[in-house]
Parts: sequence; C-alpha cells; structure tokens
Amino acid sequence: MSPAPSPRVIALDGPSGSGKSPVARGVARVLGLSYVDTGAMYRAATLAVLRAGVPPTDAEAVERVVSAATISLSSDPDAPGVQLDGADVTAEIRGPEVTATVSAVSAVPAVRRRMVAQQRELAAGGAVVEGRDIGTAVAPDAPVKVFLDADPDVRAVRRAGDRDVGVRAEGDVVQAVALDLARRDRLDSTRAASPLQAAADAVHLDSTALSADEVIARVLELAAAAGFAAAR
Ligand code: DC
Repeated sequence: MSPAPSPRVIALDGPSGSGKSPVARGVARVLGLSYVDTGAMYRAATLAVLRAGVPPTDAEAVERVVSAATISLSSDPDAPGVQLDGADVTAEIRGPEVTATVSAVSAVPAVRRRMVAQQRELAAGGAVVEGRDIGTAVAPDAPVKVFLDADPDVRAVRRAGDRDVGVRAEGDVVQAVALDLARRDRLDSTRAASPLQAAADAVHLDSTALSADEVIARVLELAAAAGFAAAR
C-alpha cells in the first residue's frame, strides 16, 4: 500500500500520557487543520470486537468483525468523537475493558491496514494526526513529525487524572495505571506490525516538565518553519 503524499500533515506520535491529544487539538485549532485521533479508531475497533464476543487473540475473527464495522471519526478539534455503526461511542471507548484489550486488536495486521487507509483519507485535506505509527507508516512523508514522550511516572499521573476528573488521583490508582501503561507500552512497542517507534526524522520533545501550551508553541514553531500558516 503506497501512501498518498501528505503535504499538510503534522504527525504526532508517542506513548500514552505523553500529552498528544491536547497538543494535537491545540495545534489543529490554530492552523485550521483537522484532528485525527487514530487511537480512538483502534479503540472503536476494539469495542466492536468485545461486543461481538470473539477472542481478541483470534486474528481471523478480529479481522472479520472489524471489516464489518463502520467507524467514523469527527475530526473537529473542538468536538472530537467517534461513532461505531452509527452510534456515538466517544465515552465508551475510554472504559477499562477497551483499554485492556486495545493493544491485542491493534496488533492484527489486517486491522492496521484498514485503519491506516481510512486515516490517510481523513488526513488528506490537512490534519494533525496523533498515534503510534503516523510518522513511520500513515504519513511517512509528513513535513512535520514529532515524537512526544514524558517520564513514565508523570504519564501515569496524567492518565490517572483523566479517570478522576477534578479529584486528585490516589496513590494506588496511579500505581495501577503505571503498571497498565508499562504493559501497553511493551505490547505496542514490540508488536511486529508498525510498532510504536519514532521516525528517524522526527523531532523528539519531552513534555515531562512542560505544559500543553508550551508543547503546542514548540510544535507551532516547527510547523511555521515547514510553511504551515495560522488560520485566520
Ligand atoms: O492513544 P490511545 O492510548 O487512545 O491508543 C490506544 C491504543 O491504540 C494504544 O495502546 C495502541 C493503539 N494505537 C496504535 O496501535 N496505533 C495508533 N496509530 C494509535 C493507537
């Protein structure tokens, strides 16, 4: 599958909790680009697999279920969302069952081929695309590629905070999230098909001690240097 040229794509890769989503949305908003959350698409595919009751390790059954599913993404950075077979599943895909199973489903090569084709279509008009394999597989010729990372403990605190909105996450919750992140990082980085990996030409940013606004400013500098102009 040869990728279509992606002259107006900003590729943003990195592990969970590195801060990709707020950064991708902020950059897309300033530049007037679409926002493509590829993780949400793999999560919706995983929800389809769970609903169908097939084992996530049965690659053929997973492929069958995902091929029959219709996944649509809202690529408005101010109103991101995902639909599965016409119903909004934006909240449901963040649940623990999907989170526990998504690495297995996203490791199936046929699932990835399908998702990547759809992601390229979504990004064709210009987009900030966040994920794990954007700079390496979805848009390898993107003019701006960023690999965002952060200290694992900081990532766990951020992800735990996502669950307990407005409430300081308890230590044991953070510890459980840290273990789950380490498990997913390992699975996502070691799978055969398009593992989580920085593209050779990606700019590495560490968000451990930076706010989302500071990372957005840095990505906007890179975008400006590559010829992207702010939307009016
Ligand atoms: O970004 P996220 O945590 O919502 O992503 C959920 C999972 O989807 C992640 O554990 C790995 C998978 N994923 C992937 O394999 N490739 C992508 N481009 C994006 C996500």
